[in-house]
Amino acid sequence: MSPDGSSEGSSGIDTRVKVQNLKKVFNPKSVAIVGASSEPGKVGYQVLNNVIKNGFKGKVYPINKKATEILGVPCFPTVSDCPTDVDFAVIAVPAPMVEGVLKECAQKNVKGVVIITSGFSEIGKKKEEQVLKDLADKHDMALLGPNTFGFVYTPSNLNASFGPQNVTPGKIAFISQSGALGISLMGWTMMEKIGLASVVSLGNKADIGEKELIEYFNDDPNVSVILIYMEGIKDGRQFMTTKIKKPVVMLKSGTSSRGAQAAASHTGSLSGSDKIYTAVFNQLGMMRARTFTQAFATACCLSMPEPKGEETIIITNGGGIGVSATDECENSGVKLLDDHVWLEERFRPTMPEFGSTKNPIDVTGGGGRAGYQKAVRVALTEERIHSVVVLYCETAVLDPVEVAKAVIDEYNAVKRNKPLVVTMVGGERSRQAIQILNENQIPAMTEVREAISGLKALYTWKEISSRPKEKTKTPEIPVKALEVIERVRKEGRTFLLEHESREALEACGVPMPKWGFATTADEAVKIAEKTQMYPVAMKIASVDIIHKSDVGGVILNIKNADEMRAKFNQMMETVKKNAPKAKLLGVNLCQMVDGLQCIVGMNKDPQFGPAVMFGLGGIFVEVLKDVSFRIVPFSENEAQRLVGEIKAKKLLDGYRGQGAHKESIIKTLMAIQKIAEHVKEVDINPLITNKDGSFAVDARIII
Ligand code: ACO
Repeated sequence: MSPDGSSEGSSGIDTRVKVQNLKKVFNPKSVAIVGASSEPGKVGYQVLNNVIKNGFKGKVYPINKKATEILGVPCFPTVSDCPTDVDFAVIAVPAPMVEGVLKECAQKNVKGVVIITSGFSEIGKKKEEQVLKDLADKHDMALLGPNTFGFVYTPSNLNASFGPQNVTPGKIAFISQSGALGISLMGWTMMEKIGLASVVSLGNKADIGEKELIEYFNDDPNVSVILIYMEGIKDGRQFMTTKIKKPVVMLKSGTSSRGAQAAASHTGSLSGSDKIYTAVFNQLGMMRARTFTQAFATACCLSMPEPKGEETIIITNGGGIGVSATDECENSGVKLLDDHVWLEERFRPTMPEFGSTKNPIDVTGGGGRAGYQKAVRVALTEERIHSVVVLYCETAVLDPVEVAKAVIDEYNAVKRNKPLVVTMVGGERSRQAIQILNENQIPAMTEVREAISGLKALYTWKEISSRPKEKTKTPEIPVKALEVIERVRKEGRTFLLEHESREALEACGVPMPKWGFATTADEAVKIAEKTQMYPVAMKIASVDIIHKSDVGGVILNIKNADEMRAKFNQMMETVKKNAPKAKLLGVNLCQMVDGLQCIVGMNKDPQFGPAVMFGLGGIFVEVLKDVSFRIVPFSENEAQRLVGEIKAKKLLDGYRGQGAHKESIIKTLMAIQKIAEHVKEVDINPLITNKDGSFAVDARIII
C-alpha cells in the first residue's frame, strides 16, 4: 500500500482482497488439514485433533496420501479430491512439499491457507518463501505463515493450531509474532480466564501481517480490542497506512539494542529504533504496553464501555492500596472525583463510622460484603461518577470471592453502564476471585498500576477515536529549495553550507532570524544595517571547515558596524592561520536571538522512511534524549501531538518566564516535511523559540 492511502502492498497487490478472504479463513464452511497424521506426536495429528475437539461445525477434510480415516474422519489423498469446496487449508507437510500442496489449494480455489511448516525465510530461505507468496498473490489467497502454530477463532469454535485447547472465549484478538510466546500466553490467559476472540500466530509474515489482521478485525463484531506482540515490521511504509477502527494494544519487544538484534535473528525481520516505533504507534493511534500482564490488563479494560466523563471513584477496604491507586491516578492523569461534601452524603451510609468517604472510599475491613455491595451500587448508579476502581486486600473476615460476586451482581444489574476495574491483592482465594471476575468480563488483576493504566487507556482511546480522520500527503518541495539542492549536488558535495541550508529551508517555510551571507566586511556591514540585524552572530563559510569554533570561525554578539568590520578581518586572519588550506567563501550573519532552545531534525529510518524529530535542546537532548518523532507525512494536529509528547513539555507552556511560540514550532515541523524526500538529514539546532516566534538559528542539511 502506498503512503497516499491506497490499498496496494509493496508487492503491488491490493491487500483488500486478502483482507476479505480472511473471512473464509476465520469462518470457513470447510477446512482441509494437509499433513494430517494418525501419529499423536505429529503436528498434523494435533491440528486435526484440535479442530475436531474444539467443536468446529463445518466440514473437516484430513489430507493424507495413505490413510483412509484419521480420528474417525474420512481422509482424502489431496485437496483436489475433497468432495466439496474447501474454504481454508492448514498445511503441515515438510518444507519441500509445501509449494506443491499450495498449488493444489490454488487449483481447488481455496481462499486462505495457514502454513505451519518451518524452514523458510527464518533460516535464510527467502526465495523459497517468495515462491509461496507469489503463488498466494496470483490466486488472491490469504496466506498466514509459514512457520506459525496456526490460529484459534472462538466465535466459530475453530482451533486450527497445535496450541492448547479450550481457549476462554472473549472479545480480544491476540496476534503474536512469536510462536512460543503466543502458545504460552494462550495457556496463561486460559488460567486467568481472560477471554479471547482469536489467537493468531503470525510466523514469518510472508503475506498476511499485522496490517491485514488489524483491518480484518476492524470490521469483525466479535472483536472489540486487538492486542499484538510484535518483534519487528517487514514493511514500515505499508504499516503506516494501517487503518485503526478499534483499540490496538502493542507489546513491542526489541527495545534494547541487544533485544533488537535477538529479534532480528529470531524472525528474520528487522527491529528499528525504539523511539521510531513509539512514534509510529502514537501516530497510528495504537497504545503501547511494556509487559504482557499490562498488555492483557489494558486489553481487558478496553473491552469496557466508554466512560461518559472523567470523574473516577476508588472503593477500597485498605488505606495503603487506596493511596497507591491515588498515586497511579495522579501519575497517569486519571481524575478522581473531589467533591467531599457530595461524597460524604452519598457514601457515608455504605460504611462504618470509621470509614472514609474522601475518595478513595474506604469501606474498611468492617464493611463486609454488604459494605462493598452498597458502595459499588452508589458508584454505578450515580451519573456524576463515570468510572469505578474497586480495590480489595485479602482479610480473614471477608472472602474475596464474596466481594467478586457482589461486584458482578451490581455490575450486571446496571447493565455494565460504565467502566469498572478491580484489583485484588492476596493469596489463593483472591486469585480465584480474580478469575471469577475475568470470566464475567470484569477486568481484574493483582497490580494497582495495571488497573489504573488500563483505565487510562480507555480515556486515551476515547481521545484517539474522536480525532478527525485526516488524509495526509507529503507536501511538495518548493522550486527554489530544489534548485539549491540540485546546485550542490552538481558540485559533487554531500552537504549544504549554512547559507544554502537556510535558503532551502526558508523557501520551505522554516522561520528564520534575520540572516545574510557576506564575502567582504563592507558587505557584512551593509546587510546588517539594511536589515537592522544587530546584535549579530558571524560564522565562517567554507566547504573545508566542519568545526567552525575550533578554528576561530564563530564570533557572537557583534553590536555595530565598527565591531563588524574589525571582527570580520580578525576572523579571516585567525581562520587562515588555523586552517591554511581551507578555501574561505565568506561569512554567515545571523541575528542573535534569546529564548528556549529546541531541536528539530529529520533523518531517514530504514523501515519507515523520513522521520521528523522535535525536542528541547541543550541538556534535554544531550543527557536526557528528550525527543519524539513522527513519520512523514503527518498533519498539523499530529505535529501538535508530537510537541505535546516530550517530557519537558511544561517548559514549552511557560515556566519561569520562558515560554514557546508553538504555532511557529508547528510551522517548522510542517515545513521540514517538504524537503524530507529530497535530502538525507536536516538539523535545525537550535531552533530558538520565544514569545515572538521561533527561529532556526543554525541549520545543516546533508544530501
Ligand atoms: N500430501 C498429503 N500428506 C502428506 C504430504 C502431501 N503432499 N506430504 C506429507 N504428507 C503426510 C505424511 O505422510 C505424514 O503423514 P503420516 O504420519 O501418516 O505418514 C504427514 O503428512 C506429516 O508429514 P511428515 O513427513 O511426517 O512430517 P512431520 O509431521 O514430521 O513434520 C512439519 C511436518 C510439522 C510441518 C515440520 O516440517 C515442521 O515444519 N515442523 C515445525 C513446525 C513449527 O514449529 N512451526 C512454527 C510454530 S511457532 C513455534 O515456534 C511454536
